[in-house]
Amino acid sequence: MLFKMIQLTVIDREGHEKELEVAEAENENLMETLKGFDYDMRATCGGLALCADCHCLILKGQDQLSDPQDEELMTLETRPDAQNNSRLACQLKMNYKLDGVLLQLTNYAN
Ligand code: FES
Repeated sequence: MLFKMIQLTVIDREGHEKELEVAEAENENLMETLKGFDYDMRATCGGLALCADCHCLILKGQDQLSDPQDEELMTLETRPDAQNNSRLACQLKMNYKLDGVLLQLTNYAN
């Protein structure tokens, strides 16, 4: 089976920007992938959309992503710094929809 490659750009919490090339993986989420690239991803809830540690801002490509589910929206509401382009990385599957996306990791809420 041939995996499609996804290219996305990540700005870390120190403001460093890096382009990543990752194979599409439907059973993996963006939080797990970023962890694999050694990004600091605390992810207290383990990817259940409960802790908001994986909060990020989608600076480019927001329209191409799947809409957030209720659990994600409810958790985002707990973040005082949430914006219209806020997402939880653990709720984004590593598929073609992330191709070309530019995102910025935000600081932990506490
Ligand atoms: S890892 Fe907890 S909300 Fe994403």
